[in-house]
Amino acid sequence: MMYPYQITSFEAYQEAYKKSVENPELFWEEVASHFVWKQKWDKVLDWNFSEPSIEWFKGAKLNIIENCLDRWVETQPNATALIWEPNDPKEPHRILSYKELHEEVCKFANVLKKNGAKKGDRICIYMPMIPELTIAVLACARIGAIHSVVFGGFSAQSISDRIHDAQCNIVITADGAYRGNKTIPLKSIIDDALINCPSVDNVIVHSRTGIPVSMIKDRDVWWHEEINSLDKNTASICHAEIMDAEDMLFILYTSGSTGKPKGVVHTCGGYMVWTNYTFVNVFQYQQGQVHFCTADIGWITGHSYIVYGPLSAGATSLMFEGIPTWPDAGRFWEIVEKYKVDIIYTAPTAIRSLMSFGKAPVEGKDLTSLKVLGTVGEPINEEAWHWYDDNIGDNKCPIVDTWWQTETGGILISNLAGVTTAKPSFATLPLPGVQPVLVDEQGKEINGNEVSGNLCIKFPWPGMLRTTYGDHERCRLTYFSTYKNLYFTGDGCMRDKVGDYRITGRVDDVLNVSGHRIGTAEVENAINMHTGVIESAVVGYPHDIKGQGIYAYVICNALHEDETHTKQDISQTVARIIGAIAKPDKIQFVSGLPKTRSGKIMRRILRKIAEGELSNLGDTTTLLDPSVVEEIKNNRL
Ligand code: PRX
Repeated sequence: MMYPYQITSFEAYQEAYKKSVENPELFWEEVASHFVWKQKWDKVLDWNFSEPSIEWFKGAKLNIIENCLDRWVETQPNATALIWEPNDPKEPHRILSYKELHEEVCKFANVLKKNGAKKGDRICIYMPMIPELTIAVLACARIGAIHSVVFGGFSAQSISDRIHDAQCNIVITADGAYRGNKTIPLKSIIDDALINCPSVDNVIVHSRTGIPVSMIKDRDVWWHEEINSLDKNTASICHAEIMDAEDMLFILYTSGSTGKPKGVVHTCGGYMVWTNYTFVNVFQYQQGQVHFCTADIGWITGHSYIVYGPLSAGATSLMFEGIPTWPDAGRFWEIVEKYKVDIIYTAPTAIRSLMSFGKAPVEGKDLTSLKVLGTVGEPINEEAWHWYDDNIGDNKCPIVDTWWQTETGGILISNLAGVTTAKPSFATLPLPGVQPVLVDEQGKEINGNEVSGNLCIKFPWPGMLRTTYGDHERCRLTYFSTYKNLYFTGDGCMRDKVGDYRITGRVDDVLNVSGHRIGTAEVENAINMHTGVIESAVVGYPHDIKGQGIYAYVICNALHEDETHTKQDISQTVARIIGAIAKPDKIQFVSGLPKTRSGKIMRRILRKIAEGELSNLGDTTTLLDPSVVEEIKNNRL
């Protein structure tokens, strides 16, 4: 068998789980032995959650790219590593074998070196979903540079904050990006971002759209010119830097309950083992299958299940540049048919959006190649689950509902396709190595079944975050201080009578809009940047397609004649500060916000009003000015 650690029966799952809890070091040592290491570890695991300090495979030396590419070049050079489907179905697609991808990665790694990149440098990547994005990520890892990919929908301000936080010295971007019928001027957004980023010395620009860009002297170079300028004889030879298992592999920024996104840090050894192990087991990947993860590489799902998980398993990974609804809502299904996709992994928000077009876009498409369907990013409602099962899987494909987070590196709770039982809207069981606990507000463990609580994990797994970049204390405070000796996920969860887990959503001030995490404080800060705004409070509310919508209560100093105009202005401000994904769906102007006598905004009340639950708002008598609640209720949108 290709993967000796692939679990293929329920009994094997139970056995693996038991082993992973009783003797985690032995368990992971066995799994890790199937990877390419330059030097073996001294110790499998060293940890304490109070600092936190988590070290897996300490002392081991490796390069993750040798595991993702070189070893497959030796055994299956002509196997397809990457299939790329462009935004416009009329444009030609691209297919790269392991040998070709390896060559491209080495060439670009040499370009990075030529531009001064060294081991340990931080490199910001702001690119469209094109093969060069994957190549750039892998090239960074090959030379030991730490990549920080920023999703192409973020604004100049957001990029600048991230570059500044990580002190990046190189930026890799493209002239523009295609998204449906739009062209996004990535390079010009980067130019704006870099006005305030003195750490950046070089910008490498790939030409995707051909739109005019300004190239800054002594700073900006073209990707293709740099490649062409390499010595032809040595261009595709690039030594893979030897890394310690605990050296940083990448930083990925994610939102929390404060205004400032944090740089989640993943390291080389543990992350590699975890993404590979979860990929192979959750999706039950079989050699030769085509795996289509519809996420963007700008998010953790793309990092783990387009790039590192599949490639480290020698799999064929399909990346798609466009959006599910352009030129029409049949785009995903057309791709499945065209490449005979075996596994599709997408988000509930995409399923709900496609559902709203009815069956027509699916009809006539040959989806018989599909074997496994996956979902990730937010709780999936039963209606969407059944639609996916009936219309896409034809009731023949197991659906894996995979719960995890940017911080967890890979999937923690999910059924294993066809091996353990699926249950609509349940992530079901923890993977081997994952020890979930539910706790009450005081941090007391809630035992038994048919219980709900806050979801924590009590033992480290190889893929977990190690720190938040540049601010370890923040990592401790955010994840390891709420409950002693536990990693706190920020999610609420219930365990049913047979022990299956169902994630109910965030219990902190983090929204999940179309599967994207956005902090309410971040949106409030952005709204408050508008000159007309005195104060604001942002909450989530149920949204048919997005899962959660953004509801903003705003106090303005003097309302513009035209309320609609002011609302548009505020939305534009949010788009400029964060990105279009954070634009409020609803803005309600209010004269005051419900506050306690100590000045704390009572979000609970605002949340209920936004949700339309007007009758049971709880005790409002302790508010500074209870009358504002009536006003807000009466003018609810
Ligand atoms: O609330 C959970 C939700 O998404 C959050 C993590 O977001 P992010 O770090 O952006 O990573 C998304 C992709 C892994 C979690 O705290 N979430 C993710 N997957 C699920 C989910 N909620 C319910 N069911 C899931 N399968």
